[in-house]
Amino acid sequence: MQTDVVIIGASAAGLMCAAEAGKRGRRVLVLDHASKPGKKILMSGGGRCNFTNLDVSADNYISHNPHFCKSALSRYTQWDFIARVDAHRILWHERDHGQLFCNDSARDILDMLLSECRQAGVDIRLNCTITRIDRQEDGFAIDSSRGRITAQACVIATGGLSIPRMCASPFGYQVAEQFGHRIVPTRAGLVPFTLQPRDKARFAELAGIAVDSRVSNDRIAFRENILFTHRGLSGPAILQISSYWQPGEAVTINLLPDQDVAQWLKQRQADQPNSRLKTVLGERLPKRLIPALLGAELADQPLQSLSHRRFEAIAESLQHWQLRPNGTEGYRTAEVTLGGVDCDELSSKTLESKRVPGLYFIGEVVDVTGWLGGYNFQWAWSSGWAAGQVI
Ligand code: FDA
Repeated sequence: MQTDVVIIGASAAGLMCAAEAGKRGRRVLVLDHASKPGKKILMSGGGRCNFTNLDVSADNYISHNPHFCKSALSRYTQWDFIARVDAHRILWHERDHGQLFCNDSARDILDMLLSECRQAGVDIRLNCTITRIDRQEDGFAIDSSRGRITAQACVIATGGLSIPRMCASPFGYQVAEQFGHRIVPTRAGLVPFTLQPRDKARFAELAGIAVDSRVSNDRIAFRENILFTHRGLSGPAILQISSYWQPGEAVTINLLPDQDVAQWLKQRQADQPNSRLKTVLGERLPKRLIPALLGAELADQPLQSLSHRRFEAIAESLQHWQLRPNGTEGYRTAEVTLGGVDCDELSSKTLESKRVPGLYFIGEVVDVTGWLGGYNFQWAWSSGWAAGQVI
């Protein structure tokens, strides 16, 4: 079989790219080894797909080359994607931090992409295993469980390693290496922390508790909820910092941001000396958290028995809590994969390989990883669109 363009990966980046190239009159064949397209779109944003963000800039992305993503993001912006969603009459709403979600279902986004692909005459073949890609004189020969396909251009949109049960595979990295591309080492991002055995036992009772916190390291800080779970710590602030965390490092958690805790305790001591520490702190923190963090004995003390220096130490424990995670939950639950195909060897304008003309890498397989908040889909749309204009 012969076609103009083969795109491997029928999800966010691949389908956007396919629809764009199809509209330009190119014959496009999309191959995927999964039984259904867009599995990660469907499971995203708790089933409502956080499809973009109102405030997108290169600062929201992690990459070995922080400038690389700028070109595609500025040529196909969040406003372009919002206009597309509106044109398909998909209803959406804004949540905290400019995050946009579907009102009804993530399926609306997938159906939008599939209907655009259908209208543009894109051929999508699922349950297709690709065994080999070879460079030919004027394009590529792709051997698959559906036979040999030849094409002028080949686009790799196979995503990262996170959630293997959703058909994630290292295929894209292997193709990149086969054609001489460097891979920036990969690791799980936007992923919950697991705890050291001692902390795990200490916080076992707290599963389900969420606290608005400021979580930081020496490189970055995020202000959002943290969530205690049966396995460790999760919640948006933890997922965000996990992408900036290296094994062995500590993170600092401020459970009472924007507050002068020591001053507040001194004032309460003057006003209500017989009140117990846990009762007073319980006005601003979940009650179960206080003995777990400070110890049951201290939490039980009346304020009058505590010195001002003790208040300073309590404030330090609650506002500069140094947590050294044991690790992360890894690719099993990570939302994204950090690292990937080195951008220095790709055109930032078209995502074409600088080594192999006609070969393109788009979406998460590239070493561009967004924050939590719709940024990863926006990169998939922007990079897919950029390649779709030229293939
Ligand atoms: P994606 O991983 O979506 O697709 C890759 C495709 O390639 C898949 O269809 C796969 O089957 C196929 N493939 C893989 N290997 C293959 C092979 N060997 N042969 C053939 N086909 C192969 N982001 C965001 O912005 N907002 C959100 O709300 C969320 N929510 C979210 C929730 C969860 C649970 C996860 C795991 C992730 C998110 N994300 C997110 C991240 C987002 O889903 C992700 O960044 C994009 O789906 C990446 O799009 P791609 O098209 O690049 O890869």
